[in-house]
Amino acid sequence: MMETPAKRIALYGGTFDPFHNAHREVVRSALSQLPVDCVFVMPLGQAPHKNRRISPAAFRFEMARLGVEGIEGAIVSDDEISTPGVDYTYETVLRLKEQFDPEIIYILAGSDVLSSIDSWFRVRDLLREATLAVVRRGSDHSGDMQAKAKELQKRCGARVVFFDMPPLTLASSDLRARIEKGQALNGQCPAQVESLIQRHHLYTFSSVYSSISAEKWSHLIEMEGLSWPYLSQERRVHSASVAQYAGYLASLTGVDIARAMECGLLHDLAKQLPLREQRELAGAFLKDDVMLAAFSEELLHGPAAAEIISTFDDSRDEEFLNAIAFHSTARPGMSSLEQILFLSDKIAYDRTFCRLEPIRALAEGGELRAAMACCLREVFNALVREGIALNPISLAAYREYAGDSSLY
Ligand SMILES: [Fe+2]
Ligand SMILES: [Fe+2]
Repeated sequence: MMETPAKRIALYGGTFDPFHNAHREVVRSALSQLPVDCVFVMPLGQAPHKNRRISPAAFRFEMARLGVEGIEGAIVSDDEISTPGVDYTYETVLRLKEQFDPEIIYILAGSDVLSSIDSWFRVRDLLREATLAVVRRGSDHSGDMQAKAKELQKRCGARVVFFDMPPLTLASSDLRARIEKGQALNGQCPAQVESLIQRHHLYTFSSVYSSISAEKWSHLIEMEGLSWPYLSQERRVHSASVAQYAGYLASLTGVDIARAMECGLLHDLAKQLPLREQRELAGAFLKDDVMLAAFSEELLHGPAAAEIISTFDDSRDEEFLNAIAFHSTARPGMSSLEQILFLSDKIAYDRTFCRLEPIRALAEGGELRAAMACCLREVFNALVREGIALNPISLAAYREYAGDSSLY
């Protein structure tokens, strides 16, 4: 992660949902005032308290990455996201110690932590391992804070230091509420974060998400964590974007929302594996050499991902696995879930191509079959322009969705 070992490190954890200007100020102020070599900005994976559906980790990691750009010494870490299970600061601190063997670890926290830290997991052990670095905003009453710090020191042996930042009062929950109401953010997040939020329509699907049970949501986050090491950050953002759009289409068409989102999160799992491995996995899934031969190199990752997923969990049903296996070819006889994944992969908000809007309009109007025909036609047009042969499974699918009068 770092070229030179960091001896004095700070950990700044949070959901960063979204990452805003006050988060950036905390990082900047810590680096300029505390004796540290770096600050690890660590977006949370699984929250201990599941009172809200936090955004997919790929978006939150990306916002943090863009949010600290240009700050020397700020390192966005996926340690908690890629570690299975609920994340506790105590365990994260132990992993950082093992990895870097630092002289000191600071935990960056807001002043509210002085009153709430008792509820943290293994707080006494944590405070033995790390020093609490509490940020003072201009408006904070430093007398009260000193008294609370002394009290914490007496009670738990805590070491507490303070650093200052400008009096910025921003709350992620307020920003999410603003976006939900269609209000502008007015520069309250770093510019690149704001444009990511706009491009991916983040925080506009809260009502879709809230219809998913907390249990199913935490399963989704767990699946995203499982797929994390397989994918580049760019591909993770694409997968989260497809998941979000698939959830939206599912909500419009009566399909299980969590299931559609899970397909989106996992569909490109095999995309970055070596081709030979993709071919072997695809062959194992398809169990049919003629069918396998219809999958060109760019398409093998679909059935390969289906094979990997069936090994994660052998109770996966055929529809789920087929949705993933045929997400880039389509096939005749697709279920609504399969069509939703195929379409979302092509028209989610991370995609930009001309003539995309008519496909979105059909899909969002619930006309999935018409959207399939329209989308396949666009895919074929692009392939013909590039001189690439059309896939026989896709052609058979197109004939079904467009009727026999088709051009292809
Ligand atoms: Fe794909
Ligand atoms: Fe994809």
